[in-house]
Amino acid sequence: MSVNKEIKRITTNTIQEMKVRGEKITMLTAYDYSMATIVDDAGTDIILVGDSASNVMAGHETTLPITLDQMIYHASSVVRAAKRALVVVDLPFGSYQGNSKEALNSAIRIMKEAGAHAVKIEGGVEIAESVSRILTAGIPVMGHLGLTPQSIYKFGTYTVRAKHEAEAQKLREDALKLQELGCFGVVLEKIPAKLAKEVSESLQIPTIGIGAGQHCDGQVLVIHDMLGINKGFKPRFLRQYANLYDIMHDAIKNYNTDVKGNDFPSEKEQY
Ligand code: KIV
Repeated sequence: MSVNKEIKRITTNTIQEMKVRGEKITMLTAYDYSMATIVDDAGTDIILVGDSASNVMAGHETTLPITLDQMIYHASSVVRAAKRALVVVDLPFGSYQGNSKEALNSAIRIMKEAGAHAVKIEGGVEIAESVSRILTAGIPVMGHLGLTPQSIYKFGTYTVRAKHEAEAQKLREDALKLQELGCFGVVLEKIPAKLAKEVSESLQIPTIGIGAGQHCDGQVLVIHDMLGINKGFKPRFLRQYANLYDIMHDAIKNYNTDVKGNDFPSEKEQY
């Protein structure tokens, strides 16, 4: 897969071996070349081209509006940047729910046009046929259970999922089904830590948590959230590793002041 002989590419096998070794897996989102270069260079195992691009890149309220063409555009930029990380791309809302042929065609477009390494898809038993068909084409699939944002209008709220036994039991069954079908991993979003621990221990494939506690095999965050670019978004599960909003805001303000005050460019900054 990799053409660069010095950097060993992370594959779905590597991810599986990490689970066996008990080594935690890191995953972060990226949607463009420059950000993906930094995320990759910093040693992140998986780069997720999430449909959260709909929120953080395009400014939509939900992940629903982003199209397959737009996902392919973001993904192709990320793939050009990623020298080591495994690049996983979300199948966006409306690109797989119709039937398994549609799902396969969408996954093929992502692999062929963007050069992605795997796709991620939201849902459990109800999308089993689609998952199976995509896998049959040799495309690695990551599942996504719990608070699946494409179903936000069904849930009606972004609060923790599977707190009650019926939903928890469905999630356990969905996770097992995804493993049985051949998924190489599953994202668990915003579910109780105790349930995530139980599911992680019961599966042979790795779980990647977001708001699902410390016992998942890996963790994922949206890059804009963990870098503090999204100023107002501070859910309990989020650790903010930087405050880039303020840093960037101050830098831009200083630039504006310098230009207006005829301080930039100086003599040294011109030809
Ligand atoms: O789209 C996304 O960023 C995701 C993560 C939150 C897991 O699906």
